[in-house]
Amino acid sequence: MQFAKRMEQFGDGIFTRLSEIKRRKMAEGEEVIDLSVGTPNIPPAQHIIDAIVDAASDKKNYIYALNDQEDLLEAVSVWYKNRYGVNLKPETEICSLLGSQEGLAHISLSILDAGDLALVPDPCYPIFADGPRLAGARLYYMPQKKENGYIIQLQDIPEAIAREAKFMIVSYPNNPTTRLAPDSFYRELIDFAKKYDIIVLHDNAYSELVFGDRKGGSFLAFPGGKDVGVEFNSLSKTYGLAGARIGFCLGNAGVISRLKTLKSNMDYGMFLPLQKAAIAAVTGEQSCVEVTRRTYERRRDILCEGLTALGWKVEKPEATMFVWAAIPAWYSSSETFALDLVEKAGVLVTPGSAFGPSGEGHVRMALVQEEGVLIRGLDLIRDSGLFGTVR
Ligand SMILES: Cc1ncc(COP(=O)(O)O)c(C=O)c1O
Repeated sequence: MQFAKRMEQFGDGIFTRLSEIKRRKMAEGEEVIDLSVGTPNIPPAQHIIDAIVDAASDKKNYIYALNDQEDLLEAVSVWYKNRYGVNLKPETEICSLLGSQEGLAHISLSILDAGDLALVPDPCYPIFADGPRLAGARLYYMPQKKENGYIIQLQDIPEAIAREAKFMIVSYPNNPTTRLAPDSFYRELIDFAKKYDIIVLHDNAYSELVFGDRKGGSFLAFPGGKDVGVEFNSLSKTYGLAGARIGFCLGNAGVISRLKTLKSNMDYGMFLPLQKAAIAAVTGEQSCVEVTRRTYERRRDILCEGLTALGWKVEKPEATMFVWAAIPAWYSSSETFALDLVEKAGVLVTPGSAFGPSGEGHVRMALVQEEGVLIRGLDLIRDSGLFGTVR
C-alpha cells in the first residue's frame, strides 16, 4: 500500500505518546492523574441537555441538516451582538462548524494553495500549524515569548515575509500560554493585515474563561476586524459541550462563503438536535458560564498555590483552562521533565515543545480534574521527591 506523503509530517503526535505511557502505567495498576489533554469535565446546564433530548426525540430531526437553520443563525447573531457588541449578518457572516477544530483544520484548504506562506504563533494550539500544513503551505512562526508577555510582536515580522504571507492565525486568550492580548494588539493587527493584505483568523475559544477584572472580547469588535478576517468560537468549554462538536466561524463574508462551499463538499451539516442545543446555549440563561469560570478559577488556585508551596513556583494564569509553567531550573527539556513527572509522580502533563519550538522550557497542565483529584496530584508530586521533601 502507498500513502500520501503529506501524512509523513504528522508522526505519532505527542498526545498519542503521552496516552500510551498512561495506558501502560494504568495496566500496571498505578495511579495516573491526567492533566494533559484539554477535555473539559464540566457538564452542560440542564436547559441545554433538555434541548438536545427534546429535539432528539423528534423523528423529523434525523435528516441531513445540510445547512445552518435560520433560527440558529439568528440566535448566534443575537449572541454576538449582546455578548461582544458585534453585528453579524446571519446568512453571510456566520458558518457553523463541527467543533472549531474542524473549521480550523479545513479553512486552510479554502485560502491556501500548496507552497503559500502562513503565519502561525509559536507556541500554538497544534491545528494552527497542522491546518496550513495539510494544505501544503509553508509556515512562518511568530514567537510568543515571555519577555514580551507572550504576545506576538508584529513589528518583528520581516517585511518580505509579511508581503508574501496569505493568512495568519492568532488567538488570545491563548492556549497554551494563557495570556490575553491588550486592545492595542488588535488595532495593530488590523493595520498590519490591511497593509500587507493578509487574512486574519482569530481563535476565540476562551473568551469566557478570563479571571480577575478583565473581560474577554471579540477581534471582530475592533474597527476593521471584519474587513480583514474571521473569528472562530466554540461552545465546547464555555457551555461544557465538547463532545457535541459545536463551533462557529464568523466575520468576513468572502472568507465565510469559501468555507461554506468547501464544507458543503465535506459534511452535511450539524445534527439538527445539536443546532437546537446551540440555540439553547447562546440564548438561554447565562449563569452557567459564570459557574464554569469560577470552577476553573478555583482549580487554578488550588493547583498553582499547591505547586508553589511544594517548591515549584507556578504563576496563576489570567485566562483559559490551562496552567503554563516554566520547568524546574535543573531540567533543560520539557519532554524529559514531563516523562519524569509521569513516571515518578503519576501526573501527566504536556511538554511545551509539543506546541512549537518556543514552547520548550514549559509544560502545560489542563485544569480538567475535580478539586479533590488535583489535591491528590499535589500529594503524589510531593511524595515523588521531585521537588525535595517540602511540606
Ligand atoms: C485554542 C483552541 N481552539 C480550538 C479548540 C478546539 O475546540 P472545539 O472543541 O470547538 O473543536 C481548542 C480545544 O482545546 C483550543 O484550545
